Amino acid sequence: MELDLNVLRPQERASLQLRLLYEQEGFRKYHMGRFEEYGLYQENRRFLSSEQVITFTDLDGRLLALKPDVTLSIAKNAQVGPGGCGRYYYQENVYRPSQESHTFREISQMGLECIGAVDDAAAAQVVSLALRSLALTGRDFVLEISHMGFVTGLFDAVGAQEAVRPRLLTCIRDKNVHELRKAAEAAGLSRQGTDALCRLGTLAGPWQEVLAAAEVLALNAAMGAALEELRGLCRALEELRGLCRALEDQGQTDHWKLDFSLVNDMEYYNGLVLQGYLAGAPRAVLRGGQYDPLAEQFRPGARAIGFALYLDELDRLSDAAAEPAGPVMLNVALPKGRLGDKVYDLLAGVGYGCPENYADTRKLVVENRKAGIRYFLVKPSDVAIYVEHGAADIGIVGKDILAESGADVYELLDTGLGRCRMCVAGPKDFTEDQSRALRVATKFGNIAKRYYAAQGRDIDIIQLNGSIELAPILGLSDVIVDIVETGTTLRENDLKVLTEFMPISARFIANRASYQFKHQEIEALLGRLKEVTEA
Ligand code: PRP
Repeated sequence: MELDLNVLRPQERASLQLRLLYEQEGFRKYHMGRFEEYGLYQENRRFLSSEQVITFTDLDGRLLALKPDVTLSIAKNAQVGPGGCGRYYYQENVYRPSQESHTFREISQMGLECIGAVDDAAAAQVVSLALRSLALTGRDFVLEISHMGFVTGLFDAVGAQEAVRPRLLTCIRDKNVHELRKAAEAAGLSRQGTDALCRLGTLAGPWQEVLAAAEVLALNAAMGAALEELRGLCRALEELRGLCRALEDQGQTDHWKLDFSLVNDMEYYNGLVLQGYLAGAPRAVLRGGQYDPLAEQFRPGARAIGFALYLDELDRLSDAAAEPAGPVMLNVALPKGRLGDKVYDLLAGVGYGCPENYADTRKLVVENRKAGIRYFLVKPSDVAIYVEHGAADIGIVGKDILAESGADVYELLDTGLGRCRMCVAGPKDFTEDQSRALRVATKFGNIAKRYYAAQGRDIDIIQLNGSIELAPILGLSDVIVDIVETGTTLRENDLKVLTEFMPISARFIANRASYQFKHQEIEALLGRLKEVTEA
């Protein structure tokens, strides 16, 4: 009987093909125990994406955990002789908390790790395998490459203190130049330093162009060394050009690009960083990079590089509805209501209107195929969810809703529309009783928690859905955390602003994968929107 690969699920098919590829390239399968000592994760918390781990007590009293991560175990247990370089691949399930479903998720990963004396050739081999792994899926793909040394070097060069770096990194990662500028200024960076950081986000595209543009920004030896390493890597990858060209000839995207806004937690990756996308998948399906600090925990002087592919995403891809053939359509999540109407009018004024007026019907989808635009009319509080999950490519959303949702999207523009501010407000004669927890009523539980946690103040949240101002009047809470626009609601209810802590306005957001595959279309719309909002 012949083996028909078509009966397999995409995930199963891919894992067989990937095994073959990795074996051919000299990688050996790493088999892991089902459980790991909890102590390993406790001691290396800083290398995990979340501290939450499923634990249980073994029959002999040892505290064990279901693996939240594979790399840590391989870095600890791999048998690599002095001067040697261990090459391993694995296929394992890991268990991580999902904020959305508020429970743990089982995630199927296939990946590889190179540990020990990792030289440039070994690093290039891993990156080329990342490219070939994505190509094996048969889908259009993009591999983004960056180098943390360039960003840390720039932080050093502009004098950014350790304490402000996480905030700066978040803005860079979200391509959020407007808040990056504010954060850099607030951190006391010079005008030139701030400009240099803001330029990072624009350093994205084909490697020759990006490296040439980045050279001007290389202010110290560390940045120069990072560029040199990238240059060497790109030269080594050129041999894969044949494979990529054949795919590009089929109308696919430019398959690998440098993007200096691709940054990760600095505690983990210290050199090359990789992120891969497949057309149709709403989030990155491949993540990896160079993680020497973790490798050195277990083997002094060791270097390490690897990546993981999220196999579940492949199965989801086959279930997802394919985009109908025809012109590229940009799907926009438009918030129903005043803000959405205003944004729609602006976009219609620059060529993105639809023949059908959505206000005249109860339709939730209107489109203009000629202009390549389709609007989904969604509840304002759902915009970020549609975009994060890729149901919409882009959206317009209030910063209050965006910050509350924590959606993992690019924040490309502050439109300046719908300006208001997030405040703590309370009765006019309010005095705080520090001897007990503060009772805070709000629609924005996450924002309120973060704000008070930063001050070390203990609070009880009372989560409401509207008319928040009633809470202190009825004694349900001491204060409220809410948006204030004109201040009328507070005034007419004998309340006042106690602290103002977050400026709010409507932001233009984009799905991270859509930004790769519909880059030109998104940039064209963004450019026109900027012209009319900045006019
Ligand atoms: C928002 C907010 C305040 C009010 C502030 O309420 O929650 O209540 O607007 O605006 P102002 O400063 O101009 O008075 P929204 O109208 O969204 O209704 P809600 O009470 O149902 O949240």
